[in-house]
Amino acid sequence: MSILPDLRERFRAALDGMVDAPDELLDLIRRSQDAKFGDYQANMAMPLGKRLGRPPREIAAEIAERLAVDDLCEPPEIAGPGFINLRLRDDWLVERLARAVDDPRLGVGKLPEPRTYVLDYSAPNVAKPMHVGHIRSTVIGDALCRILRFVGHQVISDNHIGDWGTQFGMILYGFRNFLDPEAYQRKPLDELARLYRLVRRLMDYHDAREKLPVLAERVVQQRQALEARREQIGLKPDKKTAKQLRQLKSDLAAARAEVENLEKQIAAVESDPPLARLAIEHPNINAAVLKETSRLHSGDAENLRLWREFMPVCLAEIERVYRRLGVEFDHTLGESFYQDQLGPLVEELLDQGLAKTSDGAICVFVAGHDVPMLIRKKDGAFLYATTDLATIRYRMQHFHPDAILYVVDHRQSLHFELLFAAAREMGHTDVELTHVSFGTVLGEDGRPFRTRAGDTVGLEGLLDESVRRAREIVAANDDAKPDGPELSEDQRRQVAETVGIAALKYADLSQNRTSDYVFSYDKMLAMNGNTATYMQYAYARVRSIFRRGGVDVQRLRQSEAAIRLDSPAERALGLELLRFSEALDMALVDYRPNQLTAYLFDLANRYSTFFEQCPVLKAESDALRASRLLLCDLTARTLQKGLELLGIDVVEQM
Ligand code: ARG
Repeated sequence: MSILPDLRERFRAALDGMVDAPDELLDLIRRSQDAKFGDYQANMAMPLGKRLGRPPREIAAEIAERLAVDDLCEPPEIAGPGFINLRLRDDWLVERLARAVDDPRLGVGKLPEPRTYVLDYSAPNVAKPMHVGHIRSTVIGDALCRILRFVGHQVISDNHIGDWGTQFGMILYGFRNFLDPEAYQRKPLDELARLYRLVRRLMDYHDAREKLPVLAERVVQQRQALEARREQIGLKPDKKTAKQLRQLKSDLAAARAEVENLEKQIAAVESDPPLARLAIEHPNINAAVLKETSRLHSGDAENLRLWREFMPVCLAEIERVYRRLGVEFDHTLGESFYQDQLGPLVEELLDQGLAKTSDGAICVFVAGHDVPMLIRKKDGAFLYATTDLATIRYRMQHFHPDAILYVVDHRQSLHFELLFAAAREMGHTDVELTHVSFGTVLGEDGRPFRTRAGDTVGLEGLLDESVRRAREIVAANDDAKPDGPELSEDQRRQVAETVGIAALKYADLSQNRTSDYVFSYDKMLAMNGNTATYMQYAYARVRSIFRRGGVDVQRLRQSEAAIRLDSPAERALGLELLRFSEALDMALVDYRPNQLTAYLFDLANRYSTFFEQCPVLKAESDALRASRLLLCDLTARTLQKGLELLGIDVVEQM
């Protein structure tokens, strides 16, 4: 068992009879920030003192008295107002480390009661190029999948791709009107992508033309409102009015920015004569695209045939990205898979009284929500939400999960709230439904990451650039080696691919998933700091010790050699190694891979201190040398396993 849960159970036993609901108190057992206060600290005596009306120190003493931890810890110490400080026994640490050396799972047990999870992640809308936004869902989902499986859960990964949406209407329209047959013959994907982009621009153009006058009018009104308010107030606004003014000003700035943006879109088309001509020739493109989509949805034979022709091309494209990222799915049941089930589902919900007709449309009303969930539009079209309801039903019937996790952008929060509430009304009450949401990837200017031309950044371009930069770093690092370069051109290329992709994934995983984060190649490829590069470097450094020392790792592991924790740096490293399992638990509490990256960073740092302070190959005695080699080996294995659970490979040399 992990150390922390073990301690919690022991405190639970100690508190039994003293308090009724100990869970909250047990959360107050934490890792000590400072080794002065031991390895772990229990801070429950203070709130408990308040609750029971007794001095906290006295309570701390009573808990310590009742606590059975002799096998695990030194006698507990009471400090300050009533902290209980615990220091793990060195012989216990040594014994656990010895077990980890012998264990391919590094001392991480498998859960006695595994659950079945369905993991819904990545889920791009195919037929448009994958972009930077897809990286988060894909890597967070993949990491959670790996961690859950490693601790023993059964996980079914299902890529719920968008393969039935308007983007197909766009491509169908493009195909009929703008196709370059020869280009399509040669490189179908590129041609489809070109058609998509072309139609997108023309649609945006007409949209912008339509919106511009309305928005421009709004800017005028807002400016007038602002001026009027200013005049009213005079020279000295009070705090509240000043705040109002600021709000008015920022509204005005936002509206202006939007106008500017529209003007830019319009100018981009009009300054490009062939494009401008197409815009004039296709004035009703927006409506026409919707029509193509609805013809596809209502089973039009020709549109369906073309859709079937496009799909393999689109799938091959995302498959290529997944291969490069090392991501695999058990199922790819996209939106199209559920289309036949939508009509019957809506009928059923109507029959059961769960759905109601409102103004010609059909909605599910859920308690506690003002907005209903629309499941069929007036014109008969089904929605994203309808498909998601059908998907839940299918998953419940076929996979019998205990939990379904959706790793999706935070902007879809309301959708999932309504969806989950509706699913509960449908009777799916026995399943955890969680939206594992995440924030936006920002550019260095703090705005959503875009190319200079204002487009979203393509995912493949991102990978290529990261690998290109990794290659420079790998080359510089190799060239600077004291005994000259070690890597061939081919090795450098391979290492760069691994390091580049790792950097990108790790940069994402190491963020608190709910925050936005700023994308920076320089930061994510830094050799120092909380980066994959630093971790991979730490790993490669250990491996190089073994190579230089001519050490046979297998022999070492099987030998009688024992780990010794004589110095503070060795002890700190040893303890950190034993916290691996705890880090995995913490990563799963709220589905946060950054708990694992934070652990790996701590581990790499402890290793670095150890490495500075404790000579390994030149240790004073053979026994000490063997002990330190064992610590090095366990560190390398833990880093490797930890990174693997994040979907990241290590390299033997870099
Ligand atoms: N395709 C959707 C999008 O790109 C994400 C789908 C997420 N999964 C789901 N079951 N709704 O926004």
